[in-house]
Amino acid sequence: MAETSTQTRARRTARLTAGRLYQNRWMLTAAVTAVLAVHFFGAASANFTALVIAALVLFALVAPRTPAARRLAEANTRVERSPLDRLSGEKLAAAVADPLIIFDRGGTVVHANAAAETAFGAIRPELPLLLKFRAPEMQALIEAVLSGGGNGQATDYVERVPFERVYRVTASAVGRGTGLFVLAFKDQSEARRIDRMRADFIANASHELRTPLASIAGFVETLRGPARNDPNARDQFLQIMQNQTGRMARLIDDLLSLSRLEMKPYLKPGVRVDLRQTIEAVIASLAPLASETGVVVERDFADGPFEVHGDRDELFQVFQNLLENACKYGQSGGRVLVTMHRASEGGEPEFEVTVRDFGPGIPAEHIPRVTERFYRADVETSRAQKGTGLGLSIVKHILTRHGARLSIRSKLGEGAAFTVHFPVA
Ligand SMILES: Nc1ncnc2c1ncn2[C@@H]1O[C@H](COP(=O)(O)OP(=O)(O)OP(=O)(O)O)[C@@H](O)[C@H]1O
Ligand SMILES: [Mg+2]
Repeated sequence: MAETSTQTRARRTARLTAGRLYQNRWMLTAAVTAVLAVHFFGAASANFTALVIAALVLFALVAPRTPAARRLAEANTRVERSPLDRLSGEKLAAAVADPLIIFDRGGTVVHANAAAETAFGAIRPELPLLLKFRAPEMQALIEAVLSGGGNGQATDYVERVPFERVYRVTASAVGRGTGLFVLAFKDQSEARRIDRMRADFIANASHELRTPLASIAGFVETLRGPARNDPNARDQFLQIMQNQTGRMARLIDDLLSLSRLEMKPYLKPGVRVDLRQTIEAVIASLAPLASETGVVVERDFADGPFEVHGDRDELFQVFQNLLENACKYGQSGGRVLVTMHRASEGGEPEFEVTVRDFGPGIPAEHIPRVTERFYRADVETSRAQKGTGLGLSIVKHILTRHGARLSIRSKLGEGAAFTVHFPVA
């Protein structure tokens, strides 16, 4: 280590010495030539000449630098000091993950990074930027920065091809007087999607609550007015009102369930849940619904332990909703089959639990969406079955927390099969 630093110091000194001699080369050459001339004309001894030349070299090494030489030396040291000075704008732009376009005073492209080309297609140098981005907001932004008034201004820009993305675009001048400008794009699509989902969720939740509330309000009015003295109507209406309050309570329970799940994204580690015992408990708890809907629940469980890491109550909720759906929506099939066995997915062992019914099934176009909040394949049947449309989204949420996944298969007229795949811990 010490040897390396000594070597470095020696190399630096040698470089400095050579630099000094190089800077004073003309003065040194003239002086040495003059001394040699004097020597050759016999006016000086060899020793004296050698002494004078050595003195001249020494002077060249220690003489104060001219301002120009100092500037040159400073520039050289600066180059050595800052790696940024050696960095090209293209390399810098390439290292930026967001789209970036550099353009000149004339509004023509100087350079576009790879992210910009991926987002907006080929952007060759010399292309007029105003031809590439024709949206009025982009034209205004580019013109403002070129006219010197809009440095750092931003606007929202929607690119519709090949699919819709929303960008926040900022236009700024690169340094002062470089004649270069930059457009920086920040993809906001994901944030917008989440905002829209949140707004949709609130709209859906309010709509779901407003419907039973409107129905209750209507019956209250009828009971106070035309049906005031009609005991039969009163009983009937009170029954409907009770059903509607039940529906509202279920909806609020489901909403709270979802929000609780969102607030605790991680599971307590180390808790083992016996799937066989949990599913047996679910089947037992749904016996009244099964008999009410005329469905026989059959089991086909493989031997051996079926234990997973997780939260028993949450897994209970998963199978409760799947079995409840099978009994409610598949009741015309008259039976529901619950199977549990070991399988292997891509070489990884897993436990598979399938809840299969033999009812009408789910049309293929609805299958990818039934786990969305409030999504129902058949709105009428779901409402008639007092469904809120939140059950499967809760299921999906819980399974994600458990590192498990849900797959759905269905053939119209032959029923639906919901399979939960657990990794074997
Ligand atoms: N076994 C099934 N057969 C046919 N359609 C089904 C089945 N399971 C679910 N669906 C459809 O998927 C939709 C969403 O189910 P999900 O469990 O999320 O909501 P829900 O049952 O309507 O309400 P909740 O479960 O909150 O009471 C249902 O409304 C129904 O249209
Ligand atoms: Mg359900």
